[in-house]
Amino acid sequence: MFVRRIAVIGTGYVGLTTGACLASLGHDVICADVDADKVARLTRGEVDILEPGLADLVAEGIAAGRLTFVLGAASAVRHEPEVMFLCVPTPMGVGGVADLSIVESVIEEVRELLPADCVVVNKSTVPVGTADRTEELLDRADVAVVSNPEFLREGSAVYDFLNPDRIVVGGSKQDAAERVAALYAKLGAPTVLTDAPSAELVKYAANCFLAMKLSYVNAVAELCDRLGANITDVTEGMGYDKRIGQAFLQPGPGWGGSCLPKDTSAMLQLADAADFEFRLIRATIETNTRQRQRMVEKVRLAVTGKRNGSLSRRRLALFGLTFKAGTDDLRDSPALAVAALLRQAGADLVGYDPALRQDTQHPDLSSVTVSDDPYQAAKDAEAVIVLTEWPEFRSLDWQRLAESVRNPIVVDTRNLLDPAVARRAGFEWIGLGKPLPAPTA
Ligand code: UDX
Repeated sequence: MFVRRIAVIGTGYVGLTTGACLASLGHDVICADVDADKVARLTRGEVDILEPGLADLVAEGIAAGRLTFVLGAASAVRHEPEVMFLCVPTPMGVGGVADLSIVESVIEEVRELLPADCVVVNKSTVPVGTADRTEELLDRADVAVVSNPEFLREGSAVYDFLNPDRIVVGGSKQDAAERVAALYAKLGAPTVLTDAPSAELVKYAANCFLAMKLSYVNAVAELCDRLGANITDVTEGMGYDKRIGQAFLQPGPGWGGSCLPKDTSAMLQLADAADFEFRLIRATIETNTRQRQRMVEKVRLAVTGKRNGSLSRRRLALFGLTFKAGTDDLRDSPALAVAALLRQAGADLVGYDPALRQDTQHPDLSSVTVSDDPYQAAKDAEAVIVLTEWPEFRSLDWQRLAESVRNPIVVDTRNLLDPAVARRAGFEWIGLGKPLPAPTA
């Protein structure tokens, strides 16, 4: 394998994972960020992202001399990289359009400094056409731009990087795309070499498909509720079909996080701009919005016994606030979206999350009082609402919780708990798409 000199611009979760993993594959990696404190911390091996295995890889890379950190893209480029990865944020801008201003400013900064024959790789999720536009902005015939989308999940980003289902690289210059694909040769993954627009579209098409799968399963769970069917058995039965698969079939309070909401909106924008009405994606997003409201309706019915009962001043304990288990990320968290709707309905909310502390600051946490202790959070609550699938909730002392709540009701929006355990502890357990147990004689 060729060892390449690589620059990675941006040390967020994608950039740092990319840098540390490429170093672990034997490449020489220099990572740049605009935040001087962060660069200093990373140089000391301090990683502030909760990502299993990442801190170890960073430490190993630094110790082996294969991973260094510098301030600013220009400093990284002065080391004459053969390949430069762009891993900077592309936030959702006005009207759901990806905001490319950071990508553009990095290109401006390095334009004249890039060594001849360098390949610029875009890893950030960007609208179709960005690689071609970047090539125009760069205006360097001797520098190629390729798209190489990442498919990393938060909480397993290192594992996903080192065990990819596939590598996708697209660009107008075949040899540049091949050079980038070769960086991953050790991983032995199927590789799709294509043009830049196709590579860029793979990312959106894959993430939107995943979001659509989840909206579909959440809608099927609603139907199960209405028809008295059991969603767990239905999805198991579906999932054995190899064309469907068992993964990503778990109903929940709606999908969220830093990617799926952003990418579904961007896909709609892309389609609109191409004068194509992508109804399936619009319905996927609407079904997700509806799913959050449906969770509130479930809570309302459970707590008040009526479809139109008032939640005003009702104290509710929220278990889980992050967008999924295994992360401390609150971005576009469905749990917080449900919390905001409950708050609007007048409920008093106390939240507990294994990844958050009482003093965690986040603008969307303003409607929830965060507690460090699940039993404290549940005290005098009129219902416990499980919103994130943290496995540790299963091993809480549900008997003790039953004694401290005002009403022993648990609305489990992740179907996480064993209903038999909750019921034995004295709770009424309400899940998603789960028939009520037959009354015992
Ligand atoms: C996602 C994609 O999976 C990844 O490939 C892409 O690169 C980035 O976006 P991530 O945002 O980390 O990754 O989270 P993911 O594990 O996909 O979960 C997304 C949302 O769907 C979460 O809110 C999660 O709780 C929810 N989800 C996931 C379900 O409700 N049910 C499931 O079965 C799976």
